[in-house]
Amino acid sequence: MTQNPDLTPKQIVEALDKYIIGQKDAKKNVAIALRNRWRRMNASAEIQNEIIPNNILMIGATGVGKTEIARRLAKLANAPFVKVEASKFTEVGYVGRDVESMVRDLVEQAVNMVKEEKQEAVKVKAIEATEEVILDALIPPVKQKSGGSLFGLGGTETNDNVSNEDVALNEKTREKFREKIRNGELDDRKIEINISQNPVSNIGVVGPGMDEMSMMNIQEMLSGFMPKKTKKRKVTIAEAKKILLEEEAAKLIDMDEVKEEAVRKTQNTGIIFIDEIDKIAGGSAGKSGPDVSREGVQRDLLPIVEGSAVNTKYGIVRTDHILFIAAGAFHVAKPSDLIPELQGRFPIRVELNALTKEDFYQILKEPKNALTKQYEALLAAEEVQLSFEDAALDKLAEIAFYANSEVENIGARRLQTVMSRLLNDFLFEIPDTITPGTTLTVTAEMVEERLADLVKNRDLSQYIL
Ligand SMILES: Nc1ncnc2c1ncn2[C@@H]1O[C@H](COP(=O)(O)OP(=O)(O)OP(=O)(O)O)[C@@H](O)[C@H]1O
Ligand SMILES: [Mg+2]
Repeated sequence: MTQNPDLTPKQIVEALDKYIIGQKDAKKNVAIALRNRWRRMNASAEIQNEIIPNNILMIGATGVGKTEIARRLAKLANAPFVKVEASKFTEVGYVGRDVESMVRDLVEQAVNMVKEEKQEAVKVKAIEATEEVILDALIPPVKQKSGGSLFGLGGTETNDNVSNEDVALNEKTREKFREKIRNGELDDRKIEINISQNPVSNIGVVGPGMDEMSMMNIQEMLSGFMPKKTKKRKVTIAEAKKILLEEEAAKLIDMDEVKEEAVRKTQNTGIIFIDEIDKIAGGSAGKSGPDVSREGVQRDLLPIVEGSAVNTKYGIVRTDHILFIAAGAFHVAKPSDLIPELQGRFPIRVELNALTKEDFYQILKEPKNALTKQYEALLAAEEVQLSFEDAALDKLAEIAFYANSEVENIGARRLQTVMSRLLNDFLFEIPDTITPGTTLTVTAEMVEERLADLVKNRDLSQYIL
């Protein structure tokens, strides 16, 4: 996907349109929020820190695109993104799990992103270094002795009588093999390499009253004391290439720089998506769990959304400019059931519409990741060409819509169940009875035949669709 941080709001909406049908209002507002970040970064330094993000509350039934919009937005912005379920924090066993962990997850994400970028940047060098290590294992270099050294090692490895010709020959052979390694000719050959092992990563030092943070610190500290171990392993050259590439790339990357950049990236561009926020709304609304714990979670969330400093193993992360998008169905609880302080922290409210039959038709057909495209690709792998007549899609949309209204409204996710029901037999029979080279065209009649009865029979469809 594009990684253009300079997209205008219109362009952002256009990019989202490629994946999400409808939901104009939601798209428009997330586009504004994203562009506001760019605006802030380009504002004068004194005011920059004063500009706070306008966090968004998305309200909409299940399966209408809330998570999808946030996820695509983060990709578009090339921003670190985490999704948490607010209700997780109230579950038994999780009570008291500090909500700050979402920020730690976010910075972890950012570190991975930055690391990947840097790895990409040093890739060419790292590959060269990798080839060198493999080459050394295959054909150790002979070095001409620097004339008359008293400290010659002797023994098996260095030969006292290395001539100029030997060195030249060795270098020539190495050159040939370097080429062979590069073009994969030797990939199946086995060699022995030293692989450095991470010093014990998880040490059980959980004491009572110890939180995640101090746990992490202790682990970091201990692993710092442990000597880095290496282990000899016999692997194919193809495997060695992979293993060594990571090690060699790591040597070329300055981890301190990565950490700093990741913290900065988190602070300025991070997006935290808090799902099921309605489940922690108080009032008479909730079905389970003590009210106290739900309100407690809301209170725990406050400082983070408000802007505070969170201690992570990569340094202190300020949350002031992180964009928070909260989402919930709010079927039972209302946004006004949230504690006022938290409500106030999500000033932008967007409602997502229920999806219509026409939306379903388009969702089946248009998005880049549309279900029809997914199945076409799956079957293409079997050399079976699958296609859908428009009338068939129309029928599918109608059935999905009907099932949603009759059984339970699960939004666009209904399309998946309907589609898999429709194609299941094909999926089973390929490639045994339906052989590669076949062309399958799904017609409206076919949809009717396979699904119509099911839909009419309400009891049956409850289980199957
Ligand atoms: N408007 C839409 N356009 C295209 N695809 C959609 C749309 N809405 C939902 N989908 C598809 O349906 C699936 C579920 O959507 P999503 O995860 O966004 O639901 P949600 O609104 O977050 O629901 P929940 O409240 O259950 O979390 C996704 O695979 C998504 O691709
Ligand atoms: Mg969701």
